[in-house]
Amino acid sequence: MVYWWGVVTVVTIASSKGGPGKTTIAMLLAGSLAAEGRQVVALDADPTQALSRWAANAYEGAPFEIHAEADETRLAHLIDKTAGRAEIVIVDTAGFGNRAAAVAMTSADLIIVPTLSGEADVTEAEKTVRLAEGLARAARRDIPAVVLLNKVRRTQLTRHATQEIANAGLPRLDATLSDLVAYGEMSYSGRVPQAGPAMIEMAGLLAELRGRGWLPS
Ligand SMILES: Nc1ncnc2c1ncn2[C@@H]1O[C@H](COP(=O)(O)OP(=O)(O)OP(=O)(O)O)[C@@H](O)[C@H]1O
Ligand SMILES: [Mg+2]
Repeated sequence: MVYWWGVVTVVTIASSKGGPGKTTIAMLLAGSLAAEGRQVVALDADPTQALSRWAANAYEGAPFEIHAEADETRLAHLIDKTAGRAEIVIVDTAGFGNRAAAVAMTSADLIIVPTLSGEADVTEAEKTVRLAEGLARAARRDIPAVVLLNKVRRTQLTRHATQEIANAGLPRLDATLSDLVAYGEMSYSGRVPQAGPAMIEMAGLLAELRGRGWLPS
């Protein structure tokens, strides 16, 4: 979105299926971008408020602004209002079928659809991407929606999921996130990984998002 004070990037993390890592990815993006000195606002549109509780009670890192708002009307206004003081707005959502997620997807400049490697996971990822495409068309603007494979292991299952995603013609990030203890621990430690394989993967994800012009460089 272009405002008179500059470009604000709204990144919405969405999936119709529960548990593929939406909140984890929201934590990683918010923490990593804040650590780079970016003005980050994180919006928690999931009524369970996992992201906002983490930010308030566990997070130890460069500060970012956080708001919990699951009501779709208030969320729509909040996205617009907070965009006024942010470079990047990260929105974590609950599975859709809820209107707040649709509002967050329609407001986005980029929709990241995390998915695990199971057959049902990939099917639900496709549904989410198709919804995103429909919302973009209805809004008459380009809103890229890309699949991010999460909890990847070097198994046949992951190779199969990658193939299924390609067969369905779903845009996918080359970056993937492995199944790593460091990501799970972050929810307790409050620290976004600053070393090791998790940090390297995150750096790769951010580099790809920047390379594709989806995050400010
Ligand atoms: N790459 C990963 N490696 C290891 N554990 C992970 C990874 N990604 C997520 N997890 C763990 O998987 C669980 C589910 O992740 P998370 O809560 O981020 O999913 P979600 O999509 O936000 O779920 P919900 O739909 O319930 O909001 C959490 O315990 C999280 O710590
Ligand atoms: Mg969540």
